[in-house]
Amino acid sequence: MFLSTQHHPQILSRDSYTSEETLQKEVDTLFLPAWHAVALKSELPKNGSYVTLEIYGRPLILWRCDDQFHCFLNVCSHRYSKLRSDACGTCERLRCQYHGWQYDETGNVRKIPDAKSFRPLKQGMLGLKKYRLETCGELIFINLTDEGPTLREFLGDMYATYEEWFSPEMHTAIVLNRPIQANWKCLVENALESYHTTEVHPRTFGESPSEEDCEHKLEDWGSSLKVDFSQEKSFRASLDTFGHWLVGRERTPEYHHIAHYPNVMIAHLSLYRWVECVIPVSPSSSISVIRLMCHVGEKRQLRRLWNRYLISRWANDFLCQVGDEDAQVMTQVQQGLSSIDQPLGGLISTREERVYHFQNYVDRAVNGGSGQPQRDTIPISYKGKTS
Ligand code: FES
Ligand SMILES: [Fe+2]
Repeated sequence: MFLSTQHHPQILSRDSYTSEETLQKEVDTLFLPAWHAVALKSELPKNGSYVTLEIYGRPLILWRCDDQFHCFLNVCSHRYSKLRSDACGTCERLRCQYHGWQYDETGNVRKIPDAKSFRPLKQGMLGLKKYRLETCGELIFINLTDEGPTLREFLGDMYATYEEWFSPEMHTAIVLNRPIQANWKCLVENALESYHTTEVHPRTFGESPSEEDCEHKLEDWGSSLKVDFSQEKSFRASLDTFGHWLVGRERTPEYHHIAHYPNVMIAHLSLYRWVECVIPVSPSSSISVIRLMCHVGEKRQLRRLWNRYLISRWANDFLCQVGDEDAQVMTQVQQGLSSIDQPLGGLISTREERVYHFQNYVDRAVNGGSGQPQRDTIPISYKGKTS
Protein backbone atom coordinates (compact mmCIF):
# COMPACT_ATOMS: atom_id res chain seq x y z
CA MET A 1 0.00 0.00 0.00
CA PHE A 2 1.05 3.58 -0.51
CA LEU A 3 1.43 5.97 2.41
CA SER A 4 -0.10 9.08 0.89
CA THR A 5 -3.83 9.59 0.71
CA GLN A 6 -3.69 12.12 -2.09
CA HIS A 7 -1.41 13.45 -4.80
CA HIS A 8 1.56 15.77 -4.19
CA PRO A 9 2.76 18.83 -6.06
CA GLN A 10 5.99 18.94 -8.03
CA ILE A 11 8.29 20.85 -5.70
CA LEU A 12 11.41 21.44 -7.74
CA SER A 13 11.34 24.11 -10.38
CA ARG A 14 12.61 23.87 -13.95
CA ASP A 15 15.83 25.65 -12.87
CA SER A 16 16.64 22.80 -10.53
CA TYR A 17 17.12 20.56 -13.55
CA THR A 18 18.83 22.97 -15.90
CA SER A 19 20.99 25.45 -14.05
CA GLU A 20 24.75 25.24 -13.67
CA GLU A 21 24.54 27.20 -10.41
CA THR A 22 22.05 24.73 -8.88
CA LEU A 23 24.23 21.78 -9.85
CA GLN A 24 27.26 23.39 -8.20
CA LYS A 25 25.22 23.89 -5.01
CA GLU A 26 24.09 20.27 -5.14
CA VAL A 27 27.65 19.03 -5.58
CA ASP A 28 28.79 21.08 -2.59
CA THR A 29 25.89 20.31 -0.25
CA LEU A 30 24.69 16.85 -1.30
CA PHE A 31 27.41 15.01 -3.17
CA LEU A 32 30.72 15.93 -1.61
CA PRO A 33 29.63 14.85 1.90
CA ALA A 34 28.08 11.59 0.61
CA TRP A 35 29.52 8.11 0.15
CA HIS A 36 29.65 6.85 -3.43
CA ALA A 37 29.49 3.20 -4.50
CA VAL A 38 32.27 3.25 -7.11
CA ALA A 39 33.45 -0.35 -7.53
CA LEU A 40 33.18 -3.97 -6.50
CA LYS A 41 36.20 -5.70 -4.99
CA SER A 42 36.22 -8.05 -8.00
CA GLU A 43 37.07 -5.09 -10.26
CA LEU A 44 40.41 -4.93 -8.42
CA PRO A 45 41.09 -8.67 -8.44
CA LYS A 46 44.71 -8.79 -7.21
CA ASN A 47 47.34 -6.74 -5.45
CA GLY A 48 48.49 -3.99 -7.78
CA SER A 49 45.14 -3.74 -9.63
CA TYR A 50 43.88 -0.24 -10.24
CA VAL A 51 40.86 1.39 -11.86
CA THR A 52 40.45 5.03 -12.81
CA LEU A 53 37.31 7.16 -12.80
CA GLU A 54 36.32 10.79 -12.69
CA ILE A 55 33.69 12.45 -10.52
CA TYR A 56 32.88 16.14 -10.10
CA GLY A 57 35.97 17.21 -12.04
CA ARG A 58 38.26 15.00 -9.96
CA PRO A 59 40.19 12.22 -11.72
CA LEU A 60 40.50 9.39 -9.19
CA ILE A 61 42.40 6.13 -9.01
CA LEU A 62 41.44 3.13 -6.87
CA TRP A 63 44.37 0.87 -6.10
CA ARG A 64 44.68 -2.47 -4.31
CA CYS A 65 47.86 -3.00 -2.32
CA ASP A 66 48.50 -5.71 0.31
CA ASP A 67 44.79 -6.57 0.08
CA GLN A 68 43.83 -3.08 1.17
CA PHE A 69 41.94 -0.71 -1.12
CA HIS A 70 42.96 2.92 -1.52
CA CYS A 71 41.60 5.96 -3.34
CA PHE A 72 43.84 8.81 -4.56
CA LEU A 73 43.50 11.84 -6.74
CA ASN A 74 44.88 10.59 -10.05
CA VAL A 75 47.14 13.65 -10.38
CA CYS A 76 50.89 13.60 -9.91
CA SER A 77 52.46 16.00 -7.41
CA HIS A 78 55.39 16.74 -9.76
CA ARG A 79 53.79 18.72 -12.59
CA TYR A 80 50.18 17.57 -12.33
CA SER A 81 49.91 14.97 -15.07
CA LYS A 82 47.28 12.30 -14.60
CA LEU A 83 49.19 9.34 -13.20
CA ARG A 84 47.35 6.73 -15.24
CA SER A 85 44.98 7.33 -18.12
CA ASP A 86 43.83 3.79 -18.87
CA ALA A 87 40.54 2.53 -17.36
CA CYS A 88 42.25 -0.25 -15.40
CA GLY A 89 45.54 -2.09 -15.09
CA THR A 90 48.11 -3.40 -12.65
CA CYS A 91 51.18 -1.80 -11.13
CA GLU A 92 53.45 -2.65 -8.21
CA ARG A 93 53.73 1.02 -7.28
CA LEU A 94 51.64 3.88 -8.58
CA ARG A 95 53.86 5.28 -11.28
CA CYS A 96 53.26 8.49 -13.19
CA GLN A 97 53.15 8.10 -16.94
CA TYR A 98 55.00 11.42 -17.55
CA HIS A 99 58.38 11.36 -15.73
CA GLY A 100 58.01 8.12 -13.76
CA TRP A 101 57.58 9.33 -10.18
CA GLN A 102 56.45 6.44 -7.99
CA TYR A 103 54.10 6.48 -5.00
CA ASP A 104 53.30 3.92 -2.29
CA GLU A 105 50.00 2.98 -0.63
CA THR A 106 50.16 5.95 1.74
CA GLY A 107 50.48 8.31 -1.24
CA ASN A 108 54.09 9.19 -0.34
CA VAL A 109 56.65 9.57 -3.12
CA ARG A 110 58.92 6.52 -3.07
CA LYS A 111 61.05 7.10 -6.13
CA ILE A 112 61.98 10.17 -8.15
CA PRO A 113 64.12 9.58 -11.25
CA ASP A 114 67.19 11.88 -11.10
CA ALA A 115 66.16 12.92 -7.57
CA LYS A 116 69.31 15.01 -7.05
CA SER A 117 68.05 17.61 -9.52
CA PHE A 118 65.15 18.33 -7.13
CA ARG A 119 67.39 19.27 -4.15
CA PRO A 120 66.55 20.30 -1.50
CA LEU A 121 63.69 17.84 -0.89
CA LYS A 122 62.11 17.46 2.53
CA GLN A 123 60.39 14.29 3.75
CA GLY A 124 56.62 14.47 3.25
CA MET A 125 56.69 17.63 1.15
CA LEU A 126 55.13 15.91 -1.86
CA GLY A 127 52.53 13.19 -2.13
CA LEU A 128 49.22 12.14 -3.58
CA LYS A 129 45.94 13.43 -2.23
CA LYS A 130 44.18 10.53 -0.53
CA TYR A 131 40.40 10.13 -0.07
CA ARG A 132 38.40 8.06 2.38
CA LEU A 133 37.55 4.57 1.16
CA GLU A 134 35.51 1.94 3.02
CA THR A 135 33.94 -1.35 2.05
CA CYS A 136 30.65 -3.05 2.87
CA GLY A 137 30.70 -6.68 1.75
CA GLU A 138 32.00 -6.62 -1.82
CA LEU A 139 31.01 -2.97 -2.34
CA ILE A 140 33.69 -0.28 -2.39
CA PHE A 141 32.58 3.22 -1.39
CA ILE A 142 34.56 6.45 -1.42
CA ASN A 143 34.02 9.83 0.18
CA LEU A 144 35.64 13.03 -1.09
CA THR A 145 35.71 14.85 2.26
CA ASP A 146 38.05 14.28 5.20
CA GLU A 147 35.31 14.53 7.80
CA GLY A 148 31.70 13.47 8.18
CA PRO A 149 29.95 10.17 8.85
CA THR A 150 31.68 6.85 8.32
CA LEU A 151 30.22 4.48 5.74
CA ARG A 152 28.62 2.48 8.57
CA GLU A 153 26.93 5.63 9.85
CA PHE A 154 25.89 6.64 6.33
CA LEU A 155 24.26 3.26 5.60
CA GLY A 156 22.87 2.98 9.14
CA ASP A 157 20.79 -0.12 9.88
CA MET A 158 21.11 -1.26 6.26
CA TYR A 159 24.89 -1.79 6.55
CA ALA A 160 24.56 -5.37 7.83
CA THR A 161 21.90 -6.19 5.23
CA TYR A 162 24.10 -5.00 2.34
CA GLU A 163 27.08 -6.86 3.77
CA GLU A 164 25.01 -10.03 3.51
CA TRP A 165 23.47 -9.20 0.11
CA PHE A 166 26.87 -8.38 -1.44
CA SER A 167 28.78 -11.26 0.16
CA PRO A 168 31.93 -12.80 -1.38
CA GLU A 169 29.97 -15.84 -2.57
CA MET A 170 28.14 -13.61 -5.09
CA HIS A 171 29.46 -13.51 -8.63
CA THR A 172 29.98 -10.16 -10.38
CA ALA A 173 27.80 -10.48 -13.46
CA ILE A 174 28.00 -7.08 -15.13
CA VAL A 175 29.07 -3.47 -14.80
CA LEU A 176 26.91 -1.18 -16.95
CA ASN A 177 28.26 2.32 -17.45
CA ARG A 178 25.69 4.48 -19.19
CA PRO A 179 25.93 8.19 -20.03
CA ILE A 180 22.44 9.72 -20.16
CA GLN A 181 21.49 13.15 -21.49
CA ALA A 182 19.45 14.18 -18.47
CA ASN A 183 19.87 15.84 -15.10
CA TRP A 184 20.90 13.40 -12.33
CA LYS A 185 17.61 13.98 -10.46
CA CYS A 186 15.61 12.75 -13.47
CA LEU A 187 17.48 9.43 -13.24
CA VAL A 188 16.92 9.10 -9.50
CA GLU A 189 13.25 10.08 -9.74
CA ASN A 190 12.76 7.59 -12.57
CA ALA A 191 14.15 4.79 -10.40
CA LEU A 192 11.86 5.79 -7.52
CA GLU A 193 8.57 5.12 -9.25
CA SER A 194 6.92 2.14 -10.90
CA TYR A 195 4.32 4.28 -12.69
CA HIS A 196 6.25 4.46 -15.99
CA THR A 197 6.79 0.72 -16.44
CA THR A 198 3.57 0.06 -18.35
CA GLU A 199 4.38 2.72 -20.94
CA VAL A 200 8.18 2.56 -21.11
CA HIS A 201 8.93 -1.12 -20.38
CA PRO A 202 5.98 -3.04 -21.89
CA ARG A 203 8.10 -6.05 -22.88
CA THR A 204 10.37 -6.20 -19.83
CA PHE A 205 8.50 -5.15 -16.67
CA GLY A 206 5.03 -4.78 -18.19
CA GLU A 207 2.18 -3.52 -16.01
CA SER A 208 3.00 -1.54 -12.87
CA PRO A 209 2.51 -3.66 -9.74
CA SER A 210 -0.82 -3.20 -7.94
CA GLU A 211 -0.92 -0.95 -4.88
CA GLU A 212 -1.71 -3.96 -2.64
CA ASP A 213 1.57 -5.61 -3.68
CA CYS A 214 3.70 -2.50 -2.97
CA GLU A 215 5.09 -1.33 0.35
CA HIS A 216 6.77 2.08 0.57
CA LYS A 217 8.93 3.34 3.42
CA LEU A 218 10.07 6.95 3.68
CA GLU A 219 13.10 7.59 5.90
CA ASP A 220 15.38 10.51 6.77
CA TRP A 221 18.15 9.03 4.66
CA GLY A 222 16.10 7.85 1.68
CA SER A 223 13.20 5.56 0.84
CA SER A 224 12.41 1.99 -0.09
CA LEU A 225 9.95 -0.12 -2.05
CA LYS A 226 9.13 -3.77 -1.54
CA VAL A 227 7.03 -5.56 -4.19
CA ASP A 228 5.44 -8.94 -3.65
CA PHE A 229 5.21 -10.63 -7.05
CA SER A 230 4.16 -14.09 -5.85
CA GLN A 231 1.00 -13.82 -7.98
CA GLU A 232 2.90 -13.11 -11.19
CA LYS A 233 2.38 -15.69 -13.92
CA SER A 234 4.62 -14.79 -16.82
CA PHE A 235 7.48 -16.12 -18.89
CA ARG A 236 9.83 -13.98 -16.80
CA ALA A 237 8.53 -15.62 -13.59
CA SER A 238 9.08 -19.08 -15.10
CA LEU A 239 12.61 -18.11 -16.16
CA ASP A 240 13.27 -16.85 -12.65
CA THR A 241 12.04 -20.15 -11.17
CA PHE A 242 14.28 -22.06 -13.58
CA GLY A 243 17.27 -19.85 -12.63
CA HIS A 244 16.74 -20.66 -8.95
CA TRP A 245 16.57 -24.36 -9.76
CA LEU A 246 19.86 -24.11 -11.69
CA VAL A 247 21.76 -22.61 -8.77
CA GLY A 248 19.91 -24.58 -6.09
CA ARG A 249 18.38 -21.63 -4.24
CA GLU A 250 14.97 -21.05 -2.82
CA ARG A 251 12.97 -18.43 -4.71
CA THR A 252 11.53 -15.52 -2.77
CA PRO A 253 9.16 -13.58 -5.03
CA GLU A 254 10.01 -10.18 -3.57
CA TYR A 255 11.75 -7.17 -5.07
CA HIS A 256 13.41 -4.56 -2.83
CA HIS A 257 14.57 -1.20 -4.06
CA ILE A 258 16.32 1.17 -1.66
CA ALA A 259 17.50 4.73 -2.28
CA HIS A 260 20.23 6.24 -0.12
CA TYR A 261 20.14 9.94 -0.87
CA PRO A 262 21.49 11.56 -2.82
CA ASN A 263 22.51 9.04 -5.48
CA VAL A 264 23.06 5.44 -4.35
CA MET A 265 20.35 2.89 -5.10
CA ILE A 266 20.39 -0.76 -4.16
CA ALA A 267 18.06 -3.46 -5.46
CA HIS A 268 17.59 -7.05 -4.35
CA LEU A 269 15.99 -10.17 -5.80
CA SER A 270 16.66 -13.62 -4.39
CA LEU A 271 18.92 -14.44 -7.38
CA TYR A 272 20.31 -10.96 -8.13
CA ARG A 273 21.30 -7.75 -6.40
CA TRP A 274 22.69 -4.56 -7.85
CA VAL A 275 23.91 -1.16 -6.85
CA GLU A 276 23.42 1.94 -8.98
CA CYS A 277 25.39 5.13 -8.55
CA VAL A 278 24.22 8.23 -10.44
CA ILE A 279 26.92 10.82 -11.08
CA PRO A 280 26.08 14.28 -12.44
CA VAL A 281 28.35 15.49 -15.25
CA SER A 282 26.54 18.72 -16.20
CA PRO A 283 23.03 20.07 -15.51
CA SER A 284 21.76 18.09 -18.49
CA SER A 285 23.95 14.97 -18.48
CA SER A 286 24.76 12.23 -16.00
CA ILE A 287 26.30 8.81 -15.78
CA SER A 288 24.52 5.83 -14.31
CA VAL A 289 26.77 2.96 -13.26
CA ILE A 290 25.07 -0.30 -12.32
CA ARG A 291 27.01 -3.17 -10.77
CA LEU A 292 25.12 -6.43 -10.64
CA MET A 293 25.98 -9.55 -8.67
CA CYS A 294 24.19 -12.90 -8.82
CA HIS A 295 24.13 -16.38 -7.35
CA VAL A 296 25.67 -18.97 -9.66
CA GLY A 297 25.71 -22.06 -7.43
CA GLU A 298 28.06 -23.66 -4.95
CA LYS A 299 31.83 -23.34 -5.39
CA ARG A 300 33.42 -26.33 -7.16
CA GLN A 301 30.08 -27.23 -8.76
CA LEU A 302 30.74 -28.17 -12.36
CA ARG A 303 27.73 -26.37 -13.72
CA ARG A 304 28.77 -23.11 -12.01
CA LEU A 305 30.52 -21.99 -15.20
CA TRP A 306 27.45 -22.64 -17.30
CA ASN A 307 25.22 -20.91 -14.71
CA ARG A 308 27.58 -17.96 -14.70
CA TYR A 309 27.23 -17.56 -18.42
CA LEU A 310 23.48 -18.07 -18.54
CA ILE A 311 22.44 -16.02 -15.52
CA SER A 312 24.81 -13.14 -16.32
CA ARG A 313 23.51 -13.12 -19.87
CA TRP A 314 19.85 -12.95 -18.81
CA ALA A 315 20.65 -10.11 -16.46
CA ASN A 316 22.70 -8.29 -19.07
CA ASP A 317 20.02 -8.57 -21.76
CA PHE A 318 17.29 -7.49 -19.34
CA LEU A 319 19.14 -4.56 -17.78
CA CYS A 320 20.50 -3.33 -21.12
CA GLN A 321 17.04 -3.24 -22.62
CA VAL A 322 15.46 -1.60 -19.56
CA GLY A 323 18.38 0.85 -19.39
CA ASP A 324 18.03 1.78 -23.08
CA GLU A 325 14.31 2.36 -22.65
CA ASP A 326 14.86 4.54 -19.58
CA ALA A 327 17.75 6.47 -21.18
CA GLN A 328 15.63 7.29 -24.19
CA VAL A 329 12.72 8.65 -22.19
CA MET A 330 15.05 10.52 -19.77
CA THR A 331 16.38 12.54 -22.72
CA GLN A 332 12.80 13.51 -23.55
CA VAL A 333 12.11 14.51 -19.94
CA GLN A 334 15.21 16.72 -19.93
CA GLN A 335 14.15 18.37 -23.18
CA GLY A 336 10.70 19.04 -21.72
CA LEU A 337 12.22 20.47 -18.56
CA SER A 338 14.49 22.71 -20.64
CA SER A 339 11.56 24.38 -22.42
CA ILE A 340 11.40 28.12 -21.72
CA ASP A 341 7.63 28.00 -21.30
CA GLN A 342 6.31 25.42 -18.90
CA PRO A 343 2.78 24.01 -18.54
CA LEU A 344 0.75 24.64 -15.40
CA GLY A 345 0.76 21.92 -12.80
CA GLY A 346 3.44 19.38 -12.16
CA LEU A 347 1.72 16.62 -10.22
CA ILE A 348 3.03 13.59 -8.32
CA SER A 349 0.71 10.64 -7.68
CA THR A 350 0.50 8.53 -4.52
CA ARG A 351 2.30 5.78 -6.45
CA GLU A 352 5.11 8.30 -7.05
CA GLU A 353 5.32 9.44 -3.42
CA ARG A 354 9.00 8.40 -3.24
CA VAL A 355 9.67 11.04 -5.94
CA TYR A 356 7.96 13.67 -3.81
CA HIS A 357 9.98 12.57 -0.76
CA PHE A 358 13.21 12.85 -2.79
CA GLN A 359 12.32 16.30 -4.14
CA ASN A 360 11.52 17.40 -0.61
CA TYR A 361 14.97 16.23 0.56
CA VAL A 362 16.75 18.07 -2.28
CA ASP A 363 14.72 21.23 -1.76
CA ARG A 364 15.38 21.29 2.00
CA ALA A 365 19.08 20.49 1.68
CA VAL A 366 19.91 22.76 -1.24
CA ASN A 367 17.37 25.60 -1.08
CA GLY A 368 16.36 25.48 2.59
CA GLY A 369 12.86 24.84 1.20
CA SER A 370 9.82 23.87 3.24
CA GLY A 371 8.48 21.15 0.97
CA GLN A 372 6.12 23.50 -0.81
CA PRO A 373 6.24 24.24 -4.54
CA GLN A 374 6.82 27.74 -5.74
CA ARG A 375 3.45 28.11 -7.43
CA ASP A 376 1.21 25.38 -6.05
CA THR A 377 0.03 24.89 -2.47
CA ILE A 378 -1.93 21.70 -2.30
CA PRO A 379 -2.07 20.28 1.28
CA ILE A 380 -0.12 17.09 1.74
CA SER A 381 -1.31 14.26 3.90
CA TYR A 382 -0.01 10.80 4.63
CA LYS A 383 -2.29 8.14 6.09
CA GLY A 384 -2.54 8.82 9.78
CA LYS A 385 -0.59 12.07 9.74
CA THR A 386 -0.56 15.41 7.99
CA SER A 387 2.50 17.43 7.10
S1 FES B 1 54.17 14.92 -13.84
FE1 FES B 1 54.28 13.01 -12.92
S2 FES B 1 56.35 12.51 -12.90
FE2 FES B 1 56.26 14.43 -13.85
FE1 LIG C 1 12.45 2.35 -15.92
